[in-house]
Amino acid sequence: METYGVWYHEVTRMKGREWMRRLTLAQKPTPLEPLTRLGELLRIDLWVKRDDLTGDMVTGGNKIRKLEYLLADALDKGADTIITTGGPQSNHAKTTAALTKRLGLHPVLLLSGKPPEETTANLLINKLVGAEVHYFFPRHPREMDDALLRLAEEMKAKGRKPYIIPVGGSNGIGTLGYIDAYQEMDQQRQEKQLSFDFEFVTAGSGGTFAGIYMGHQAVQASSKLIGVSPWLPSQEIKERIIDCIKDARTLSTDSVPLSGEPALEDLSIYDQYIGSGYAKPTPEGMKALQIMASEESILLDHVYTAKTMAGLMDLVEKGVIARGSSVLFWHTGGAPGLFALQERWSEWGGG
Ligand SMILES: Cc1ncc(COP(=O)(O)O)c(C=O)c1O
Repeated sequence: METYGVWYHEVTRMKGREWMRRLTLAQKPTPLEPLTRLGELLRIDLWVKRDDLTGDMVTGGNKIRKLEYLLADALDKGADTIITTGGPQSNHAKTTAALTKRLGLHPVLLLSGKPPEETTANLLINKLVGAEVHYFFPRHPREMDDALLRLAEEMKAKGRKPYIIPVGGSNGIGTLGYIDAYQEMDQQRQEKQLSFDFEFVTAGSGGTFAGIYMGHQAVQASSKLIGVSPWLPSQEIKERIIDCIKDARTLSTDSVPLSGEPALEDLSIYDQYIGSGYAKPTPEGMKALQIMASEESILLDHVYTAKTMAGLMDLVEKGVIARGSSVLFWHTGGAPGLFALQERWSEWGGG
């Protein structure tokens, strides 16, 4: 069926007796490529899943796969307004705004903090696509949820039909996008006759890791899956991941044979690479970003993927990842946020 100029796909997951549907918004499959020069430097067999190339209006990233399901659900529910939230430079908020406009709907973003002085990077894109942007300074994440609900009520009072997408698009529906991504990667892995010892992925709000974990379980992959947190302490992000998995399991009954829920100790998440806080560059992250750019001509971002690559490099250095291991790095995008930093290159150690 074609609607709003994009294709709906019915997929083999059941929600009660309804089919879960998915829009086709991302460029897929994304490449699975060797990182030969960086691999040689680290003395490991390094590969990358290029989900930075999923291709929204700028550079793609992990959020599109989640939004294929979330926006399909919003359309099914008759929404005309999509409300979501994130930090001022949120990739998720920007991608939601861009794809919402592509469907002809109205994007409303509730960004945490005070309005930044300059409209750079993702903020500029929000402005260009015409998103309605509000700012709110929460003292606790819970206040953000209440603020989202209040905004939805305001929209309803204006005669709109709002649909709320949680921070990072991380709930059961969003998680389905990364179960699919894992299946896509696993097929490429088999075609290339590869076998990974370790897989690294960023665990921010948790949905990406949750979907990859479920996909990994579904194909009984032998690799060890490692998450790196750029934001939350490991216990908290693990709880969020488990919530996403539980929620996704209520939706996906036939293609995800996951028996039992993971316990906290089943998940391997490192929170040692956050540095002084969310979105604050770390010297190790910026070094990883610079090496990835100069060796492989691939851009990481300072908020998420650079910290994950810094974690990967550190664990190789410490011998947790043995030299010669075969390692997959899930590149989840985010490079547009880097352009909010360019004026401050020298502050974080760039020459
Ligand atoms: C570039 C990038 N990588 C990784 C993540 C983490 O994904 P998730 O929020 O699903 O854990 C995000 C968003 O939070 C992101 O924007």
